[in-house]
Amino acid sequence: MQKYDYKALYQRSMDDPVHFWAVQAEKYIAWYQPFKTVLTGDFEHLNVEWFSGGKLNACYNALDRHLPTRSNQTAFLWEGDHPDQSLKLTYAELYNEVCRFANVLKKFRVKKGDRVCIYMPMVPEAIIAMLACARIGAVHSVVFGGFSPESLRNRILDAECKLVITANEGLRGNKIIPLKKNVDEALTECPSVESVIVIKRTQNSVPWDDKKNHWYHDEMQTVSADCPCEEMDANDPIFILYTSGSTGKPKGILHVTAGYLVYVTMTFNYVFDYQPQDIFWCTADVGWITGHSYVVYGPLCNGATSVIFEGVPNYPDFSRYWNIIDKYGVTIFYTSPTAIRALRREGDEYVTRTARKSLRILGTVGEPINPDVWQWYYDVVGDGRCQIVDTWWQTETGGIMITPLPFQTPLKAGSASWPFFGVKPEIIDTHLVITKPWPGMMKTIYGDEKRFADYFKKYPGTYFTGDNATCDDEGYYWITGRNDDVLKISGHRIGTGELENAFLENHHVAEAAVVGVPHDIKGETIYAFVTLQGNVKPSDELKKELIQTVRHAIGAIATPDYIQWAESLPKTRSGKIMRRVLRKIANNDLKDLGDISTLADPSVVEKLIKDREGIADAHI
Ligand code: WT7
Repeated sequence: MQKYDYKALYQRSMDDPVHFWAVQAEKYIAWYQPFKTVLTGDFEHLNVEWFSGGKLNACYNALDRHLPTRSNQTAFLWEGDHPDQSLKLTYAELYNEVCRFANVLKKFRVKKGDRVCIYMPMVPEAIIAMLACARIGAVHSVVFGGFSPESLRNRILDAECKLVITANEGLRGNKIIPLKKNVDEALTECPSVESVIVIKRTQNSVPWDDKKNHWYHDEMQTVSADCPCEEMDANDPIFILYTSGSTGKPKGILHVTAGYLVYVTMTFNYVFDYQPQDIFWCTADVGWITGHSYVVYGPLCNGATSVIFEGVPNYPDFSRYWNIIDKYGVTIFYTSPTAIRALRREGDEYVTRTARKSLRILGTVGEPINPDVWQWYYDVVGDGRCQIVDTWWQTETGGIMITPLPFQTPLKAGSASWPFFGVKPEIIDTHLVITKPWPGMMKTIYGDEKRFADYFKKYPGTYFTGDNATCDDEGYYWITGRNDDVLKISGHRIGTGELENAFLENHHVAEAAVVGVPHDIKGETIYAFVTLQGNVKPSDELKKELIQTVRHAIGAIATPDYIQWAESLPKTRSGKIMRRVLRKIANNDLKDLGDISTLADPSVVEKLIKDREGIADAHI
């Protein structure tokens, strides 16, 4: 257990942030050249910069600097989709692979500042590719392997990627994911991509273009294992990661090297009370920010040993997570409320037949965890013995922002508790905002300064999180959910605008409006009101077809659960869809619909309410 006084340290971080962060930056990170200023700029001018003048390299911090003391220590324990498949990588081995692959990237003319798309299963090569990019100063854009070809294409185009790294196929829950096929489909309209490097994950063959496609294992044979690190400026980009906003187009959140690295390294150390003998396991895929910060950069910069897992919690059965914990002696386990809810539903026996004696800290992230579920996690998974950290943060924040600290924060089930050092939250009209810059914050939205500026517009001088929260008299924050048109489905962030565009890809659809409704396992799910083209008849067949349309456009994480046919949608006289009314109808919350006097045709609402009664689960 680490010894410190949260309240005193927090106060210091508020009283003198410049001194506080200077100390952390020197403690957690190795610099080629020291920074000249700690913090310049502010939220009003959108010109915040951390650690300017400093030079560093993220890969050096993750790997090279550990070699003198940790070369034979395990960096990653990889557990494959099938329990028979596993692999160990020491720091020295990982370093060697990363240097080689960095040279492969150079061979393909990838240079500092170029964007590289990584569309991979959870295999060590995904992490090797990320670190190889960081090593040569290329900017990785990891796209979750569950996204559709169309989503992949949009992300490749927006970031103007030069190269794509993928696998022939992925494996999840004994199912094959056709990654290379998806890449081929995406690339039909991506002129910027010159080459695709393919990892051979399965023995199945895939279509091949000799000019454009290259096997990873072949290329790795052609290069040396000697590759110096590029010295990066503190505010040079480290990666772009796409996430959903309320409008249709995903945003390329851009993080920069120094602030991000200092922040994730320090938060990893404190939030998980990390000790050198710990075995850490974060179940997130590297396709999400949790994977970037707490599978890759945070653990490696602390020299930790981590488990990485390719598969799913229910294959071969619902004990899989707990078996993995026993197999590797996991001490710190970090997962999502969705996974906990799904496993809890299957009954305690899947948990209690495993030992879990090694566990000491349990974490959650991605969505609110309700107190019942929290208690089950605490009592059944943690045997009433482990500290729980319910961590609130976002792709934009880079690292954990509001969280209990193990053995410091008296736990309250369902509360993300207190702000991390240097973080100053505030609640304005139920909206959670952050009033001071912190090192992990995004630098901008790639290619879209305007959308970046939008975060600081609503309450000038503060960062608008898009979440609602309350704060109790002991300073505990309780996050209640989003206040914009963003849904959290199984913890995945999806914009209603994206979903509506997806519906419109089906030529039978004239108009669609999507809202979120609660779901026992997913937390929240999609409820769509769909208006068909004049000559099209509604049918259950067509519902099934629309579900496929949306899955095809975005990916399986965006499967609608409810579709209600709507002859027309409630619109104001100026033609704007009145979403708050649709939200109430979908949620059967009809007591007070609010002011509907501005509707062009109020009778539309009655009709929708009447039809709402007939809606069953759209899955048939
Ligand atoms: C949104 C950010 C941060 C990594 C994964 C999600 C919700 C996140 C919590 C929590 C309640 C949470 C918020 C936030 N969220 N953590 N502990 N309690 N809500 O990153 O995909 O950028 O989503 O996830 O709504 O705004 P993301």
